[in-house]
Amino acid sequence: MGTGRRHLIVVSNRGPVTYAREDDERVARRGAGGLVTALRGLVAHHDVTWIASAMSDEDRVVAAEGVVEESLGNGSTVRLRLVAHDEVAYDWFYNVVSNPMLWFLQHYLWELAYTPTVDIALKHAWTDGYVRVNEGFAEAVAEELEAEPETPVFFHDYHLYLAPRLVRERAPDALLAHFVHIPWPQPDYWHVLPEGMRLAVHDGLLANDVIAFHADRWRINFLRSARDLAGAECNFVDYVADYHGRRSVVSVHPISVDPVEFEELAQSEAVLAAERDLVERRPEQLILRVDRTDPSKNIVRGFRAFELYLEAHEDAHGRVAMIALLDPSRQDIPEYSEYLAAIQREARRVNDRFQHNGWMPVEIVMEDNFPAAVAAYKQFDVLFVNAIFDGMNLVSKEAPLVNERDGVIVLSENAGAFEELGDWVVCVNPFDVAGQAEALDRALSMPAAERRQRIEAIRAHVREHDIVAWIEGQLEDLDRCSAHIT
Ligand code: F6P
Repeated sequence: MGTGRRHLIVVSNRGPVTYAREDDERVARRGAGGLVTALRGLVAHHDVTWIASAMSDEDRVVAAEGVVEESLGNGSTVRLRLVAHDEVAYDWFYNVVSNPMLWFLQHYLWELAYTPTVDIALKHAWTDGYVRVNEGFAEAVAEELEAEPETPVFFHDYHLYLAPRLVRERAPDALLAHFVHIPWPQPDYWHVLPEGMRLAVHDGLLANDVIAFHADRWRINFLRSARDLAGAECNFVDYVADYHGRRSVVSVHPISVDPVEFEELAQSEAVLAAERDLVERRPEQLILRVDRTDPSKNIVRGFRAFELYLEAHEDAHGRVAMIALLDPSRQDIPEYSEYLAAIQREARRVNDRFQHNGWMPVEIVMEDNFPAAVAAYKQFDVLFVNAIFDGMNLVSKEAPLVNERDGVIVLSENAGAFEELGDWVVCVNPFDVAGQAEALDRALSMPAAERRQRIEAIRAHVREHDIVAWIEGQLEDLDRCSAHIT
């Protein structure tokens, strides 16, 4: 395939922009989430056709116009093809199957004695929602491939497990790659799903030439479940899975960020203004967390751990506080709105117990405000990431890049980022709240020289393993596959 600019097809549920109509004019807003941010880097270096779901009413109008050229503001342009799914089908796809089922399964979020119940409603949502939306995506990809059969296709994430098989049936020689951005659980956990569903997930993924993960831990689990559930012949040394006469390469490419973009952003007017605001009210020592309000992020236990820390360290009262910048997420799903309420309840409880003389231990800021997050990245003394499970966790890579206080990263052993950053962080078990309280103490009282040495090592690692390295690694996989096929 050679180096230089390439034509690529990217397929993800969320697109790089979403459209709205304001004062009778169409406006494009940046799509939310870490995946979209990372993939925008791909668009800067290659000619990308991006296929995504139409989410807003205006997106549907755009979808009806066919492929549109959209500028992404960083000098790059994407060919955007929005797919307008049936609205009821999309609701089942996103709000019943993708998030409460697949996301919960892959992050081990159920309490199996009580949830989930696989009932007729879920089965309908699967057939008339998840399957249909995947068919819609596959149709759009197949049409693009008819015009340019050689173009490699990059599927992203758990929304699209069925699409690769459907595309493969129509374009047997297509070059297909799939990046799974979330953890892959152990094989037995997949047995919560009825056989037809769990097999369809694995069968769909195994239609790809490349299947990639952020961490080796997820790759090994995938190879095990491809073997145990789908009967694929898996090689755990060369990391390949042979299935129905085809070979899939199973690779690991930890996603990263663009360090230059963050360093520039840190000096932007919007961030400096947010930072001035934060500096005025910051405590002597600031513990920061930045999360979507997702049960996998373990925010409630995080507050409990901080409570235990405050219980044991009266000298910290009035001096140490936690700021939680929380982005409300997936609020049409009851499990998510209930979790958001639990977060607020828990913060309130800790504050009611300890606050005095104007000092409040926990401040929750509930908004999607990237400049405010970057300002807080500059100011933290401890960054607290205690996720139950997390495919990667980009916050733990972004924040150290711009931090100006030699802050310490407290990181869950179950975040994909731990595989890379483990030597330089304070490790926590996400369920052990007493251990998290001790970790907070250790981080808050770490000697200056050790703090500096740790954060500099993290920065050097992220600068070397940046977003360009992530993208190049995937293209190299594709080159290996196309060399093998031709
Ligand atoms: O990695 C999982 C992911 O899909 C990310 O791409 C994204 O940041 C996040 O989940 C947000 O999900 P949603 O698109 O449901 O808001």
